[in-house]
Amino acid sequence: MNQDEVFFGGEGDAWFHRNQAALGKHVDWPSRMFDMLENRNNIRDVAELGCANGWRLNTLSKKIKGRLVGVDASKEAILDGQSRYPHLQLHHGTLANLPLEGTFDLVIVNFVFHWIDRATLATSLAEVDRVTRDEGFLILGDFLPDFPQRRPYHHRPGENVYTYKQDYACLFRALGTYTEVARITFNHDHPAQTIQPTPSAHRAACVVLQKSLQGYYHDIGHSAG
Ligand SMILES: C[S@@+](CC[C@H](N)C(=O)[O-])C[C@H]1O[C@@H](n2cnc3c(N)ncnc32)[C@H](O)[C@@H]1O
Repeated sequence: MNQDEVFFGGEGDAWFHRNQAALGKHVDWPSRMFDMLENRNNIRDVAELGCANGWRLNTLSKKIKGRLVGVDASKEAILDGQSRYPHLQLHHGTLANLPLEGTFDLVIVNFVFHWIDRATLATSLAEVDRVTRDEGFLILGDFLPDFPQRRPYHHRPGENVYTYKQDYACLFRALGTYTEVARITFNHDHPAQTIQPTPSAHRAACVVLQKSLQGYYHDIGHSAG
């Protein structure tokens, strides 16, 4: 069983039951970054991938009048969200095979990439890119240590399930079709409204990227090649 299947097959549910009561209780950087986006009034369709029960989408639904869609590996989180927030479209699925069609003005992926199986990391990145509209925004939250590192996931000892910490925003920037608009770094283990120095292993970032299929290329005229 690969790591995506572990979360799809029950670990997502276990995470949801352990953390449900705390969802939305800490400073929520993706929502704060959304509130600071100058062009947020143009944002209509939003997808959150790895949305748990859709609590953040529900908050955003008070500010956005378009389609609000969520996907999560936890069936129970999705069922909970479907009964709590019937105005959202919530689907059980994984990043590597999103049950979504079309594109969105804003895509949010908050603390999900670190649990993606390394065999489906590139596919998951491609799926996130597929559903992000040209000129749309991607808000990406995850750990940001000084160097890539993995840590055994202590709820599944001996099963080769890991938390992989690395700079995920740079994977999108490397495509050449995303540029970074804003970022905040913070201490994942000690959430606070204040800016504070953080040890590498606990450092996290919330990054706003904008996609543009053509806009970041410099025209340099005709060439033979
Ligand atoms: C740390 S939680 C973050 C939840 C939510 N993004 C938030 O900010 O509150 C990670 C979430 O990703 C989900 N997840 C794990 N692997 C996934 C995958 N391959 N595809 C989609 N969701 C996944 C888990 O079920 C869990 O809800």
